[in-house]
Amino acid sequence: MKPVAICFVCLGNICRSPTAEAVMRAQVEAAGLTEWITVDSAGTGDWHVGEAPDHRAQTAASRRGFDLSGLRARQIAAPDFERFDLVLAMDAANLAHLRQLCPPALRSRVRLLMEFGSQPAVNEVADPYFGGGEGFELVLDQCEDACRGLLARLRPGLAGETA
Ligand code: 4NP
Repeated sequence: MKPVAICFVCLGNICRSPTAEAVMRAQVEAAGLTEWITVDSAGTGDWHVGEAPDHRAQTAASRRGFDLSGLRARQIAAPDFERFDLVLAMDAANLAHLRQLCPPALRSRVRLLMEFGSQPAVNEVADPYFGGGEGFELVLDQCEDACRGLLARLRPGLAGETA
């Protein structure tokens, strides 16, 4: 079986997608699947390239045991659509932007993270950047939920795992 590479994508790569990256990495490690599932994140925009995640995202994440401090923002680039099996957008605007950038033949790799969440009516991880602290808690709740669903969907296809 082939390992699966996943890239989470938001606008700035300083709030939602680094949170999703850290949450998924922790769940993959807890499941003993680090050889099989690799994770990364990026932004569609370039304003924050090279920056550490927003301090509000870092603080909220660290309260739940996720360390974002070593992550640095980068912008999505053309080779990412080849490198990653799944390019998971946080919201509909990110999805539309990614679909424009992605070569048509690889477009099925580009999806919404919340497709894997437990609440079918919730399609987006809401942008917390201009809001209060509760927005960052909701991002964490949504990422934990959707990453659990994503891991459950990936597991049956990985070597040594059964459905
Ligand atoms: P993110 O949040 O896309 O979850 O990283 C944002 C970060 C920065 C901006 C907007 C959203 N901004 O406008 O600079």
